[in-house]
Amino acid sequence: MSILVTGGTGYIGSHTCIALMEAGYDVVIADNYYNSKPVVLERIRELAGKEPVFYNCDIRDRAGLDKIFTEQKIDSVIHFAGLKAVGESCHMPLQYFDNNVSGTVVLLEVMAAHGVRRIVFSSSATVYGSENESPLVEDMHIGSVSNPYGRTKVMIEEILNDLYASDDRWSICKLRYFNPIGAHKSGRIGEDPNGIPNNLMPYISRVAVGKLEQLTIFGNDYDTPDGTCVRDYIHVLDLARGHINAVQKTLADTGLFTYNLGTGHGYSVLEVVNAFIKVTGQNVPYRIGPRREGDLACVYSDASRAKAELGWEAQYGIEDMCADAWRWQSRNPDGYDG
Ligand code: NAD
Ligand code: WQD
Repeated sequence: MSILVTGGTGYIGSHTCIALMEAGYDVVIADNYYNSKPVVLERIRELAGKEPVFYNCDIRDRAGLDKIFTEQKIDSVIHFAGLKAVGESCHMPLQYFDNNVSGTVVLLEVMAAHGVRRIVFSSSATVYGSENESPLVEDMHIGSVSNPYGRTKVMIEEILNDLYASDDRWSICKLRYFNPIGAHKSGRIGEDPNGIPNNLMPYISRVAVGKLEQLTIFGNDYDTPDGTCVRDYIHVLDLARGHINAVQKTLADTGLFTYNLGTGHGYSVLEVVNAFIKVTGQNVPYRIGPRREGDLACVYSDASRAKAELGWEAQYGIEDMCADAWRWQSRNPDGYDG
């Protein structure tokens, strides 16, 4: 079976390509290297011992996608390609809607033209917005999101809902990821954000490796046990494995499916920092700063549906996530530029 992975050289995509090849799938990647680098492809090849087919292709490029579907026999698609920085999306909303929403529409049109109607889509816990209380359940009403990035995910979910309503031959898996962190056990691939990281774990790792001076914890006056925000961190390897189960679902059944991919457990910012210090033995200087605009106090999943219907549940705990993030960062202090 052959799987087209859009965004396959990105953080989650690269781990998923390896998991797919290890599970015996043929992998075709479409990525425009907007937020990734060619060296990732070499590392995927090194770790999987196999060569994925690669197309340097923007998903908005209809002719480019058409060429892929003409040249390759694609059985199902995992669609990671997209822009993902919440803050940036507030400054350049049109680029986000164009890349994420228009890009997805082009992809779906080309898929339909080639009779490929199976897709796994990277959605996000962000679609639950501010009105729902954790644990978050898939059937909750979504949409009260506060930023353009989150709105692109809600809009794409709605497009997928309408597509299935129009043609029930489709098989569509919407996966809502919580907070993916960690890296491959080899320390050869991991998360490599450009510039100063926005997200917690890459920030902690760069402080530990000496690239940044100290972490600022955004607020300790939330209504949580230690006052810092609580999130459902999930190991990227667990997430990658979840995509295998989701692809199998698209190959086995038609339908419209939505699954949270989280652990079902929340950790506070302080708990993550302390777990990292404990596991790695590194110093992580931090200070308490003001709250970050838009942050919610407590976000974690109800992960029971993925377990019941996909037979998937997370296996790694916070200490594995910290140890593996550190192995990647310490062996690649300059990320993929090293
Ligand atoms: P990433 O930026 O590392 O990977 C995305 C990949 O898509 C990159 O390689 C980039 O070059 C590529 N890409 C972007 N626009 C493209 C386009 N128009 N055509 C072709 N390729 C394009 O991000 P990631 O963390 O691996 O996230 C993957 C997906 O998961 C994204 O859709 C993201 O919104 C979603 N997601 C991520 C998180 C997270 O915290 N990392 C959480 C929830 C959902
Ligand atoms: C986690 C916690 C911060 C950095 C984001 C997106 C979400 C999803 C996952 C894509 C928060 C605190 C962080 C720092 C800190 N992505 N923090 N100091 O905001 O939960 O989720 O990534 O879909 O849509 O919003 O993740 O890693 O940015 O923050 O104190 O320097 O760490 O306040 O409580 P977040 P994060």
